Amino acid sequence: MSETVLLVGGGGREHAIARTLADDATLYACASNRNPGIARLCEGFETLDETHPNAVVTYAEEVGATLAVVGPEAPLAAGVADALTDAGVFAFGPGADAARIETDKAYQRRFMREHGIPGCPEFETFESMEEACAYIDGYDGDLAVKPAGLTGGKGVKVIGDQVSSEEAKAYLRESGYDRVVLEERLVGEEFTVQAFVANGSVRVTPAVQDHKRAYEGDEGPNTGGMGSYSDASLALPFMTDEEYREAVSILEATVEALPEYTGVLYGQFMLTAEGVRVIEYNARFGDPEAMNVLPVLNTPFINVLTAARDGDPLPKLSFSPRATVCKYAVPEGYPTDPAGGTRIEVDEGSVGEALLFYASVDEREDGIYTTTSRSFAVVGVGETIDEAEEIAERALAAAGDGVRVRHDIGKPDLVQRRIDHLESLRGD
Ligand code: AMP
Ligand code: GLY
Repeated sequence: MSETVLLVGGGGREHAIARTLADDATLYACASNRNPGIARLCEGFETLDETHPNAVVTYAEEVGATLAVVGPEAPLAAGVADALTDAGVFAFGPGADAARIETDKAYQRRFMREHGIPGCPEFETFESMEEACAYIDGYDGDLAVKPAGLTGGKGVKVIGDQVSSEEAKAYLRESGYDRVVLEERLVGEEFTVQAFVANGSVRVTPAVQDHKRAYEGDEGPNTGGMGSYSDASLALPFMTDEEYREAVSILEATVEALPEYTGVLYGQFMLTAEGVRVIEYNARFGDPEAMNVLPVLNTPFINVLTAARDGDPLPKLSFSPRATVCKYAVPEGYPTDPAGGTRIEVDEGSVGEALLFYASVDEREDGIYTTTSRSFAVVGVGETIDEAEEIAERALAAAGDGVRVRHDIGKPDLVQRRIDHLESLRGD
């Protein structure tokens, strides 16, 4: 039977999902922005508020969806997967309650502690910002300050890295947050491992390293992610295969404690000199990280979705042994003062052998406009990270004015700095 899949979300991650499914299913999509790349791969694209469960369900019923994939966290948090399931449309993505693993950082840490999941840093949660400030004053060492709710990856402040303890306290006092997690600052290299999860199966994908900081050399404020790379093997150049497996075993232990979980479970890890620690979980693919792993996935994603729906074990995954480098083009001023609503030119003819994924842009009658979020990404796929990086860099010729890129992502210098960083930590 041919499946009709409704994809919820209009970012680069969802364009990558659409591309992976387009040949194997009849595809429809809905999002608040009209993503031209997704729209082109679909039978229909509806512009609607994707955090509005009724609107999504109405569209799913109208198009006769037999499956749905929910890409971003906001619709998951709003109960879109629950509403689709209630309407008889199987949704690959957790319900709002299970998505708390991402949407509530205080719950997430307590869950780890309660179930004895390895890799949990020392932490305390606070409802009073004054008590949190007093804890900062009395703590011997640096802390990460994490608002408990969703902030698009931009609400965390790390003392001793981005801010001083005085700045962290001022931030908390001015924030208006009602709950905050303070946890031990982890030092090392960050990486992501994403897994397909359903019916107790955990099927992992290659490790990816994202680049959160806005500017080259890891300077500036945190963003949703400026770009990312993966290697031709499952691990990354700065880690051993054993360390990759340590992250996988943490994901497996997590799913054991969440037996009903369905969807993508994303682990954000810090590889420290003492081993692998969990920075956070997400209840969905990463953006950009989906654009690294989906292009090298050989197993049809549709087979994962139907197995999940039908209560079967998920198929074993196979990946091409290829490295990938993804670079995002973002509006000038992103993330602090993004120039949304600017018309941009994307010369698709100049992309060459790279993949182009449109993100939070809006296609209107007279062209493509930026929103206040990331605009589009190019992904190079090659034998090595170097080769993939060169392919991605050449493809950036497609970008006209009005966007900014971190060119250093995936370049040999930066990858070597990651390796040297861990070596120096391990040597201490
Ligand atoms: P999150 O929103 O939890 O992904 O955090 C955003 C970023 O803050 C992470 O990607 C890390 O760079 C940083 N971060 C979060 N928790 C910690 C921690 N315990 N130690 C050091 N850095 C952290
Ligand atoms: N790239 C980080 C995220 O998707 O949360």
